Amino acid sequence: MATGTIQVGDKSLELPVRTGTIGPDVVDISKFYAGTGAFTYDPGFTSTASCESKITYIDGDEGILLYRGYPIEQLAEHGDFLETCYLLLYGELPTNAQKEEFDYNVTRHTMVHDQMTRFFTGFRRDAHPMAIMVASVGALSAFYHDSTDISDEHQRLIAQIRMIAKMPTLAAMAYKYSIGQPFVYPKNDLDYASNFLNMCFAVPCEDYKVNPVLSRALDRIFILHADHEQNASTSTVRLAGSSGANPFACIAAGIACLWGPAHGGANEAALKMLGEIGTPDNVAKYVAKAKDKNDPFRLMGFGHRVYKNYDPRAKIMQKTTHEVLAELGIKDDPLLDVAMELEQIALKDEYFIEKKLYPNIDFYSGITLKAMGFPTSMFTVLFALARTVGWIAQWKEMIEDPSHKIGRPRQLYVGADKRDYANIGQRG
Ligand code: SDX
Repeated sequence: MATGTIQVGDKSLELPVRTGTIGPDVVDISKFYAGTGAFTYDPGFTSTASCESKITYIDGDEGILLYRGYPIEQLAEHGDFLETCYLLLYGELPTNAQKEEFDYNVTRHTMVHDQMTRFFTGFRRDAHPMAIMVASVGALSAFYHDSTDISDEHQRLIAQIRMIAKMPTLAAMAYKYSIGQPFVYPKNDLDYASNFLNMCFAVPCEDYKVNPVLSRALDRIFILHADHEQNASTSTVRLAGSSGANPFACIAAGIACLWGPAHGGANEAALKMLGEIGTPDNVAKYVAKAKDKNDPFRLMGFGHRVYKNYDPRAKIMQKTTHEVLAELGIKDDPLLDVAMELEQIALKDEYFIEKKLYPNIDFYSGITLKAMGFPTSMFTVLFALARTVGWIAQWKEMIEDPSHKIGRPRQLYVGADKRDYANIGQRG
């Protein structure tokens, strides 16, 4: 085993260096505090691997994303979302028989306990759908007690299937509730993406015909969002799960984290930004704002902690955007014009080149989802819907690792030194 040596004050410590299948080596610092009496310090975890995983690999410099070794481009081109779910959960692409059984099981868990409809009526109609998703997914542990014992393999399996199956139903309910329309039940004769479109856009007064081009595009969008290594929301799910919390509660924690505009909330923020810019000739002004150190404005949908090249998902997303707009006969979408102009200018600008800021998956997704008829408030909900399988697969991997332990970081304390209590009359 390779090692590295570190000198801290008068202490010298030899640390094991581990090599993965691909990607950077890691220095195992688990004995660092015992060996040096010091902690390592890495706020934001820019140089820290929190776990070992077999699920997803990103090469940020080359713009490569692999799910269980398969390039995202190939999965998006040839597969469907439930096949990707099977791959992420179990590590291999399913055979025909395995795919049929998995699809059957997910399809037959899409209904939610009917008392959840009463749970929804407690919300204001104008509640943000992400607030409803955090609450209702967390509430699943109040309805499905028979799949919350994480020490029981069968209960874990049922919880995994239930999460993947019920997220579209809850997401559609959150949308329907916000527009005052009746909930639409799932239909077992529809595929996963078509079922979601039907639950969102069908009304009792007439039949709804799913557009196959749109459902294929949505299925591909779900594939692109399915997993992404140890991003903020996945790390949240892992940390919540490390205490032994039930999977529904852990996924609710992941949804809460994803909501932030620096993370999954960027798709909603990016579309709002494009609308604020308004026209291509306003782009230069906003690029200047993004470069101004004194201006907190950032280009939403640009930049990434890991990708220092084009986000491979953004390329597929851009192609899907054009497909959807063409299918819907939308010739000139002003938001797309602004996005294309912004991308052109930013990619040639010294600031973005030097800081390696490229469009990420959130840059084009909003234009596509808006064209499909979703309000901006639903964009991050769709991201959460798709990412649920990634969160569940990463949670499963951690729980099944017998060596896993509760996550409990330390700190650099810079507060007040020890001091005695002063009575109120002696203060100030
Ligand atoms: C997702 O982690 C994942 O994998 C996430 C995700 C997933 O699938 O789970 O890929 C999904 O969250 C995509 C990212 C969506 N967020 C946005 O689009 C919001 C805008 N982007 C930024 O907030 C930012 O780029 C982050 C949060 C995405 C990454 O931030 P980092 O890695 O902490 O980088 P940083 O903030 O340290 O920025 C480095 C430099 C800074 O300048 P300096 O301090 O070095 O002078 O680049 C600048 C930043 O000011 N910068 C930007 C910028 N992003 C970074 N400047 C202008 N516009 C931007 N968008």
